[in-house]
Amino acid sequence: MEKQIKYVQVSADNAENCKVYKSLMYEYIDEMNEHSERPLPKEFQQKWINSIIAMQGPTDRHLELCYVGEMPIGFLYGKIDHEDHKGFIKPGYGYIMEFYVRPDHRRKGYGKMMFKRLEQSFRLDGAEMMYLTADPVTGKPFWEAMGFNNINEKSPENQLYIYEKTVSPIGFEYGVLKSLTKETAAEIAHWEYEKPYDAYNFTNHQNGYLLDDSTWGTEQFCLVDGETILGQVACQLDGTDLWVGWSMAPQLCGQGNGAAFVDRCVSELRRIKSHTGRILLRVSAHNLRAIKAYQKVGFRYIETIQDEIAYSDRIEDFWIMELSAR
Ligand SMILES: CC(C)(COP(=O)(O)OP(=O)(O)OC[C@H]1O[C@@H](n2cnc3c(N)ncnc32)[C@H](O)[C@@H]1OP(=O)(O)O)[C@@H](O)C(=O)NCCC(=O)NCCS
Repeated sequence: MEKQIKYVQVSADNAENCKVYKSLMYEYIDEMNEHSERPLPKEFQQKWINSIIAMQGPTDRHLELCYVGEMPIGFLYGKIDHEDHKGFIKPGYGYIMEFYVRPDHRRKGYGKMMFKRLEQSFRLDGAEMMYLTADPVTGKPFWEAMGFNNINEKSPENQLYIYEKTVSPIGFEYGVLKSLTKETAAEIAHWEYEKPYDAYNFTNHQNGYLLDDSTWGTEQFCLVDGETILGQVACQLDGTDLWVGWSMAPQLCGQGNGAAFVDRCVSELRRIKSHTGRILLRVSAHNLRAIKAYQKVGFRYIETIQDEIAYSDRIEDFWIMELSAR
């Protein structure tokens, strides 16, 4: 089965989440203490945990419990550094403060998924760089595998080496098509686009097709990079032709990503549907930015048809475009 993690932000007003977080923190501190020459004394542990919980609130502070099914498997904790914060500070950097996967869930890829989630939060918060101080035993090999480099400086706070990495831009080349799920379909159902592309909004429209789980995984997918949804993809086979429709996530639009997105969707569709025939699509003749992206990837104009715009009774010109069989 597909691995999935559910993330829940901890806040002081949710006693149940705080309880789960506290018990994970004691496990984490015990393990970190075993690896450290300066273990955190017992009498400070509870105070420290409570102070972390009390600090939650700002939207660029992320303390999330990580669940697989009903089982809490760990937590992630990161924030954007600001000048007025206490301690060692790199203003504007994403700072990964605490990070934990329970021992029986390690080496299964969960740590990597959680890191990608936090990196995505930093990206959305506007950070270009991130840093951490690495636990020398379990932390170091993991963070190096995630692409962090030791910058040969020790943190004045805990005397551990500082590791840094740039916050990666969205990478379409790593995008994979996955079946929609309750969570991903619900997220997509809220997508809205800037004018004049608001006709493509998912909100205000009946999302009957998107939310029809009988077509998930056969006709409806999302393109994801780790935990980030890059786009929504639908397809239908008509003889040997595959008709497609897709939307890139709104926050990625208007930045020159179109061709990379379409190119990845095409190769992923060919892979998962084992489709070698033509790929066909219908696009509004006014949607020049989409047409340009399609042409870059190799789609060719076949004909113009007149049809109703979805969810309205207005008639408009649409281009039918094709990508040749392979
Ligand atoms: C560090 C930690 C979060 C890693 O979580 P994880 O779920 O085991 O990590 P993943 O399975 O996603 O590992 C991704 C990759 O990291 C590397 N890696 C992770 N742990 C490693 C280790 N102990 N030795 C060597 N490589 C390791 C591997 O390349 C791994 O890929 P692979 O297992 O497919 O070869 C987890 O070990 C942990 O919670 N440790 C205790 C707390 C801690 O050290 N936190 C970090 C504080 S700085």
